[in-house]
Amino acid sequence: MRLDYPLITGRLLLRPFEPTDLDDFHAYRSRPEVFRYLYDEPVSREECADLLAKLVADNELTGEGQRLTLAIHLPEAGRVIGSAMLKWRSESNRQGEIGYSLDPEFQGRGYASEAARKMLELGFDGLGLHRVVAECDPRNEPSWRLMERLGMRREAHFRELEVFKGEWGDLFVYAMLAEEYRATR
Ligand SMILES: CC(C)(COP(=O)(O)OP(=O)(O)OC[C@H]1O[C@@H](n2cnc3c(N)ncnc32)[C@H](O)[C@@H]1OP(=O)(O)O)[C@@H](O)C(=O)NCCC(=O)NCCS
Repeated sequence: MRLDYPLITGRLLLRPFEPTDLDDFHAYRSRPEVFRYLYDEPVSREECADLLAKLVADNELTGEGQRLTLAIHLPEAGRVIGSAMLKWRSESNRQGEIGYSLDPEFQGRGYASEAARKMLELGFDGLGLHRVVAECDPRNEPSWRLMERLGMRREAHFRELEVFKGEWGDLFVYAMLAEEYRATR
């Protein structure tokens, strides 16, 4: 799937990361609260630059197992405020996954939902996926509330399936089928 960037939503532009996004990227990639329920940890500016270099090349999905991670640019603020991800989990079973992170300064305004809706559109309309999932720690209420806002269904609550940051962790799995996606539009 090759795309013409930027992708435009109501208030946002979604596009591949650029090396000049380092300040904006580091502004949220360095904040512990953003990573409380994520596997990753906050990183230094130098580590951010390395991560950014990898993301810069991440601008298309050509095979299963790949992730497309796009910068969420808010023209009104003139900066990148977060990222949205679409992973192509399986070609034969047409399965995908979405994810998102937002700078805390820009949370609570519907920007993550707006970006995630676009990633669902890419998955269902662009890649022709049959099912898209999103996963989170049940304590990450803003994340699962967002999934419900998108119309995704809670399919599973796995209890203590892994040791997460030093303690037993649970997992919510949310999903949406292509027919459910079409019904929400
Ligand atoms: C998960 C995360 C992206 C959710 O961000 P968010 O800003 O709460 O999500 P949304 O974009 O859906 O915004 C919804 C909120 O904006 C409010 N809002 C304001 N204006 C809005 C608008 N125009 N449209 C929609 N919602 C709007 C909603 O009422 C809602 O507030 P509420 O939760 O107090 O009811 C954010 O908490 C985050 O980045 N967390 C850290 C990283 C992370 O955990 N990512 C998920 C990994 S599984």
